[in-house]
Amino acid sequence: MQATATGEKRGLLEYFGRVRAHTEELCKPLEIEDYIPQPTVDVSPPKWNIAHTTWFFEEMILKKFVEGYCEFDPQFGFLFNSYYNSIGQRTARDHRGDLSRPTVKRVFEYRRHVDEHMLKLLGAEARGPSSEVGRGPETRNSELETLIVLGLNHEQQHQELFLTDLKYTFAKNPVHPVYRSDFYPEERSDDSLDGWTTIPSGVYEIGHAGDGFCFDNELARHQVLLNEFEVSDRLVTNGEWIKFIDAGGYRDSLLWHSEGWDWVQRESVTAPLYWQGSDENNGYKHYTLAGLRDLPLDAPVCHISWYEASAFAEWKGMRLPTEFEWEAASAKFAWGSRWEWTGSAYLPYPGFRKPAGAVGEYNGKFMINQMVLHGASVATPEGHSRPTYRNFFHPHLRWQFTGLRLCR
Ligand SMILES: [Fe+2]
Repeated sequence: MQATATGEKRGLLEYFGRVRAHTEELCKPLEIEDYIPQPTVDVSPPKWNIAHTTWFFEEMILKKFVEGYCEFDPQFGFLFNSYYNSIGQRTARDHRGDLSRPTVKRVFEYRRHVDEHMLKLLGAEARGPSSEVGRGPETRNSELETLIVLGLNHEQQHQELFLTDLKYTFAKNPVHPVYRSDFYPEERSDDSLDGWTTIPSGVYEIGHAGDGFCFDNELARHQVLLNEFEVSDRLVTNGEWIKFIDAGGYRDSLLWHSEGWDWVQRESVTAPLYWQGSDENNGYKHYTLAGLRDLPLDAPVCHISWYEASAFAEWKGMRLPTEFEWEAASAKFAWGSRWEWTGSAYLPYPGFRKPAGAVGEYNGKFMINQMVLHGASVATPEGHSRPTYRNFFHPHLRWQFTGLRLCR
């Protein structure tokens, strides 16, 4: 038993190093000026993203599990806390880009400091269980490991945000900056055939099962009764979206929810985010992290809001799958290139329990006024996806790599 536990902890050490290194890999193409701007409240500057993920390890783990641990800088808790009310006051979310100080150099020093202490802690854990007053070694170790794995999954979520936030910021820039000239994964076509799969009616098990990691919102596993339905084997493409535009989809109020129609009018929406031009003469272009490029018609549509996904489905006389239908059918189709909007509101599963302490604020408090997305996207780090994963966003947001799959 001990040998296995020690092996698992060495695995955790390797996992920690790999995830932290990947974040810094993502930073390599950046120039120093790229680390700061925040053009809208929903996106964070790269500097904030890479400091905040570090703060998570310092705040949730080092301060709790390392006796006498000294914070790198007592002001960083205020600067890089995201939304944890139980931990304290923080920089307003729409002011993260106002901070030219601390410098980027200092934030990388912060990462070094926290990594060193985390590696020391992980190394000590790998050599054998420790104990502390009031808690047996097993309780302490399982809590510590749970938090480290959560911290690494949190950092992976921010790796995706790093790319989507940067794409939004660069897209606002009239010179269309290039992050990496070879980075346009959203142009890959979905090579699934244009077919439909029938899912029989029945009672399905929904939610995470097994010993692997999941977020708290994927629990508790429970039964859901589904009627028979058909789900498309592939995602809706850019070419199909152009037909929706040409048919007047953005001008027909009858296709839209009231809130969605208000959003279309208010924001003057006429196409997915990052599209430019029209297909009259030269065709549409779209902004990618490799710059402005011709829009590939066969690739799945990307950067659409829930309102748009729903209006498109209405236009086709179809609908979005509920999150339960999506999960029950997910073994039957290829997924992973887009976060797929579902027709389900983000609510707790029956039996959902918030964990004790600050991490209880991770998901549960956001279970209101948002819609669930399943799948993963071309920006999701490897190993950070599973069919039970529940992503969630407000219905007007579209800076993630979002798309849709139809259902009937
Ligand atoms: Fe976060």
